[in-house]
Parts: sequence; structure tokens; C-alpha cells
Amino acid sequence: MAILIIGATGNIGKNLVNTLLESRQQLLLGVRNPAKARAAWKFRASYIHFDFNEPETFEPALSQVERCFFIAPHDDPVGSVEVFLQHARHLKQLTFSSGRTTGGVEGKPLHAIEQRIWESFIPATILRPGWFMQNFTGWIGDDIREERKIVLPAGDSKTAFIDVRDVAEAAALTLIHGGHTGHTYELVSDQAFDHYQVADMISRAIGETVAYQPMAPLDYIRRMMKKGWTRDVAEHTVELYQLVMQGREEKTSPDVEQILERPPRRLADFIQEHKKAFR
Ligand SMILES: NC(=O)c1ccc[n+]([C@@H]2O[C@H](COP(=O)([O-])OP(=O)(O)OC[C@H]3O[C@@H](n4cnc5c(N)ncnc54)[C@H](OP(=O)(O)O)[C@@H]3O)[C@@H](O)[C@H]2O)c1
Repeated sequence: MAILIIGATGNIGKNLVNTLLESRQQLLLGVRNPAKARAAWKFRASYIHFDFNEPETFEPALSQVERCFFIAPHDDPVGSVEVFLQHARHLKQLTFSSGRTTGGVEGKPLHAIEQRIWESFIPATILRPGWFMQNFTGWIGDDIREERKIVLPAGDSKTAFIDVRDVAEAAALTLIHGGHTGHTYELVSDQAFDHYQVADMISRAIGETVAYQPMAPLDYIRRMMKKGWTRDVAEHTVELYQLVMQGREEKTSPDVEQILERPPRRLADFIQEHKKAFR
């Protein structure tokens, strides 16, 4: 039977699909735009229209599978996941990718979703990834490429960044092999760095100076709104960085090594491997 992947076109999902295909798993991709996903994987997977904002798409997708991976939707995350779980009671494995810190913070949507999953008694595994290394080549990368700067409201706090490929490999194992149900795993690297150190690592890798400019939250919101972000997204980002500033993303965890039976990928290697993305 196929494994249903929701969020297949995103950072984690893309890597997860590729990892599962390498293991010759049969996949059903539940996506808002099947044509877009089909362009990426063609006949190697099956596709079905799925949208958390359209509850009528839940049953057709879930009824075809016994295993499913999903990330939280942006709009009304808790309400739509509650309905989703009602259609998922027959599953033998549900893997949810939450957030390293917000998954454990009372009142945050990811925490509420985790609670709903455990209350549903569906055999499940919760992954709590830390900040992605891929952010430095993605949305933070724009400032690096355009201004040779990392601008964030992160002060001098440290973060144990995770490579999304490790998240995907861990997710794949929970879906393919038993033995992970009932577990919550903190997926972070085994080293933590502040953003001065990250800027220095990128500078050395590309042979040009990249500076870290810590920014006050209100200034950051103004800056990102000028760049086209909505106020909501900018404020949400600042809220997340307040948790970083409290030191809650710094602690390392043995969980990646425990699941993958190898150490987590390291930031210095990620930067070397992605040098071109900073130019
Ligand atoms: N960035 C970080 O550093 C970080 C760290 C820890 C945790 N997280 C968490 O990780 C999650 C994001 O994961 P990601 O980066 O892999 O995702 P992403 O790259 O932001 O992509 C979002 C995915 O969800 C799909 N999607 C969006 N709305 C949907 C809907 N209404 N119904 C069905 N699918 C929908 C998108 O599909 P389309 O192709 O249709 O748009 C896309 O595949 C969030 O919960 C975030 O809080 C992020």
C-alpha cells in the first residue's frame, strides 16, 4: 500500500519523497496542485488533490493508505487537523513534523496539533525539527546574496540548526520501519552556533565577507514589510526568534544519531556544499 505524503512540494516533503523513492516505496502525494507535483516526479508517484482548506479532499486521500506524513497547514491549523484526524483513525503510522520549540509551547498551534494526535490514539511519531540549515540558502539567503549580510532579530543566541535532509531521512524511517510509534524526536544537529559564527563560516567558504547584523524586533518587522512580507508573517517570525533569544534552540539532542545511526549533518559541511547558493 502507498504512503500518503502531505507537503510533498515543501522543504521537508521534497527530500522525503526522494528518500522514500530511493527505498522503492509506493507513494501517493496529497497536493494542492497535482500538475505541479507530477512535473517533478512524473510516473514515479501517484497524485491526488488534497487541501487542508477543503475537508472533502481528506477521505479520498486517506482511504487509500495506512501510513501518512504531514506538516501543519498555515490557515486554521488546529481546526483543519482535527477534522483530518477523524478521517485518519484507520492509519497504522502517522508521522507529523512539528517544531523543535513551538511543539512544546502551550498555546502554540503545533503544540495543540501534537496533543490532538496523541488524543486520537492513532499510532504516531512526532518529529520536532530545529531551525533548518536550508533557511540560509532560502529566505535568509536573499540578504546574503544581495547585501552580503545576515539580518535577523536573533541577538547573539545560539541555534543547533538541522539539515532538512536529516529530517526527511528520519521521517522516512518512521514510515518504513516500525518501532517509532509513541515517540517524539528532537531533530537538531550536535553543534550550536550564533549568527556571527554562521556569517564567519559562510565568509570563509565563499572568500568574501558576510556580516551578521542583529536587529531589534520592531526594526526587523519594518524591514521585512518593506521587502514585501505581510505584517502577520513578519510578526510570527519575530515571535519565533524570541524563543531563539531565550536560548531555547541551543541545546543539542542525541535523537538524530539514535534514529539514523550516524551523526547529524553539520553546518560547516552544508555551507561548503552550498557555496554557489550564496553567490
Ligand atoms: N523553516 C524552519 O527553519 C522550520 C524549522 C522547524 C519547523 N518548521 C516547520 O516546518 C513546517 C514547514 O515545513 P516545510 O519547510 O517543509 O514546508 P514549506 O517548504 O513551507 O512548504 C509547505 C508545504 O505545504 C503545502 N501546503 C501549504 N498549504 C497547504 C494546504 N492548505 N493543504 C495542503 N498542503 C499545503 C505546500 O504545498 P504547495 O506546493 O501547494 O504550496 C508545501 O508542499 C512548518 O510547520 C514550520 O513551522 C520550520
